[in-house]
Parts: sequence; structure tokens; C-alpha cells
Amino acid sequence: MDTGRPVALVRDEVLLDELLRLAAAAGCELDRVPDAAALRARWKDAPLVLLDEWAAFECGQADLPRRAGAYLVSTGPPSEQVWPQTLVLGLERVVVLPAGGEWLIGTLADLAEGPPSGEGRVVAVLGGRGGAGASVLAAALGQAVLSSGRQGLLVDCDPLGGGLDLTLGDESHEGPRWPELHLSGGRVAASALHSALPGRSGKHGRLTVLSCDRDGPGPEPDAVAAVVEAGRRAGETVICDLPRHLTVPALAALSRTDLAVLVVPAEVRACASAKRMAHQLTSHGVTLGLVVRAPGPTGLRGKEIAESVGVPLLASMRPEPRLATALDNGRFPTTTRGPLARAANSVLTALHNR
Ligand SMILES: Nc1ncnc2c1ncn2[C@@H]1O[C@H](COP(=O)(O)OP(=O)(O)O)[C@@H](O)[C@H]1O
Ligand SMILES: [Mg+2]
Repeated sequence: MDTGRPVALVRDEVLLDELLRLAAAAGCELDRVPDAAALRARWKDAPLVLLDEWAAFECGQADLPRRAGAYLVSTGPPSEQVWPQTLVLGLERVVVLPAGGEWLIGTLADLAEGPPSGEGRVVAVLGGRGGAGASVLAAALGQAVLSSGRQGLLVDCDPLGGGLDLTLGDESHEGPRWPELHLSGGRVAASALHSALPGRSGKHGRLTVLSCDRDGPGPEPDAVAAVVEAGRRAGETVICDLPRHLTVPALAALSRTDLAVLVVPAEVRACASAKRMAHQLTSHGVTLGLVVRAPGPTGLRGKEIAESVGVPLLASMRPEPRLATALDNGRFPTTTRGPLARAANSVLTALHNR
């Protein structure tokens, strides 16, 4: 029987629990077999085999031939007696946990996910001034990805923003926010995020939301990196809502973006502030685009703002009708035709043409 899944022959229950936990983090199902006889049926075709010390002796006794992709796993330094067995079976590596956990998650995730699709894109959204509409545009980008039938990952990197779940009107959706998400190692599988985190589903698409909470800590930089990379590898559109102050977690997202979008209301002061933001962002080597909320109170238009800030204009959008009331009522607009949705679609087009 070949399930295409990796297989473990492990008698040590504590070790087995740890392996199952790491496999879950990698989004990978790990089959267990009870003895060497059962393992023999999987020995040739399983993409990866994990053995504890006891199992290595059992396999040696059962005369299983050498194979690639078989590993000895242990929770401490293996005993000397096991070394001859590792040579006989051709075990490629001894994975000592917890130190080897990160490598194991990566290897299992590679198996579960297959090769990176190359389709994945990462976009960051920042406000040219406070209250510019960055979080609203980030949520609208998520909604646009969902409406287009694709897979999206909306990542809130602004712990003081009040929570992107609240922006979407999804604060009652159960599931972890950043304070409850504990990622082990430097890698997580997109599938593990989709099954753990709340989100929205459409006819075809899915938007998974990783929000900050009303209290508790924001994300750590390594966790941001792991989540963003997971979405990219899986070929998804990752949208990061970033604070205006470029914190270390924000930089972890920023350094992985294909495009950073500055949202700027068409006002003189917002323009001055956006210029400073643009300067900072460019110094980090980021490709920038502008979304302008126009016309401004004195009639300033998107093109004028873009010229003044010195960043290409991706979209100029009129105020979304009745947005403030909709947000307060927990009803983020799902229309695909309003100014906000049109601007979001322009951003996605620019992102996917990169
Ligand atoms: N496209 C828009 N049209 C009309 N009003 C908007 C728009 N975007 C944002 N707003 C208003 O601005 C407020 C602040 O938006 P928000 O996205 O939270 O700003 P930021 O994240 O940049 O601080 C919203 O609560 C809403 O009232
Ligand atoms: Mg915000």
C-alpha cells in the first residue's frame, strides 16, 4: 500500500507525539506502522521514513535493504550500538529533537506542498498618514482575492490597529489570532494555517485571516516571515497590513514584498507625510505604488499627489459610499463594483504583472 505519505516506525510514545506535532505544523500527514513487517510494505515507496533506535534494530533484524530518505530520530544523542544499524540501513541523518525539529518541519512541508508554484505574490499596505485607509485597502485586497476565486492570506502586522478581523466585521469568527498562534521552527505550511485560522470562503476562493487581537502581543518577526513565506510557496496572494512605524516584524514582511502600496488621501499634509514614508520605504529597496483617495478637500487629484510624492500611481479612488457606517456595523463591503474594490483590483493587477 503506497499512500504517498511519509511513514514512522517509532515505539517511544513521547517521541512519536513530538513527530506528529511537527508533521501537523508542516501540514503533512505522517503514517505510523506498528512493526518492521508492516514497514516492509511501505519501505520502497514511502517518500520518507522515520525510525527510532528500537525501530532501527527491528529493521536490521528484518533485513530491510538500504534506502534513501530514511532517518533516525531521537530526543537525545543516540547510543553507540545503533551506529552499525544506521550504516546497514543507509540512514541519511540522525535527527535529534528538539534542535532538528526545524529541519524536519521543512522537509515534511516540502513533501506535503510539493515544489513552490512561483505564482505566489506578497503585497504590503501602509498609510501615507495616520487613518489614511491602509487597513481598509488591505481588507479590500483580501476581499478582491476571494471574489476572484483565488487563495489569499491576510496578515495583520499592526498590533495597535485594533485587529483586521474587526475591520472585516469578522471578530466573532473563532480561531487563533497572533497571540494564540505558536509557530515552531522557522517554517509553517499554508495548509496548516488554513486549517487553524479563521477566514472567509467564496464559491472558489478562500481568504485566511491572521489578525492581531484587542490585547496580547503582536507577531514576532520570525513568525511573520514564516507565514508570509508559507503563502508565497503555496502560490497564494499574501496581503500584509503594516504599521507606519517600521517595526522589526513590519520589516520582516516588507523585505518579502513584491509591491508595497502607500495609501494617501489627496491632502497637502498627507502628501508631505507620504513623501517621508516613501523615502524610508525606498531605502529598504521596496517597489512602491500609490493609491490616492481623491479628490481631496481642495480638489487635489491622484496624478498631482503621485507626482509630488514621486511614486507611480496605481489607482485613484473616490470615497467608498457609506463606508464608515458599514465598518461600524461590522459589514465590510463585498461589492466588486465600488471605488474601493476597483482600486483593489488595480493593485492586484499591478502585483501579478510584476
Ligand atoms: N476608501 C475609503 N473610502 C471612504 N472612507 C475610507 C476609505 N478608507 C478608509 N476610510 C475611512 O478612514 C478610516 C480609517 O481607515 P483605516 O483603514 O483604518 O486607516 P489606516 O489603517 O490607514 O490607519 C476608516 O474607518 C474609514 O472611515
Ligand atoms: Mg490600520
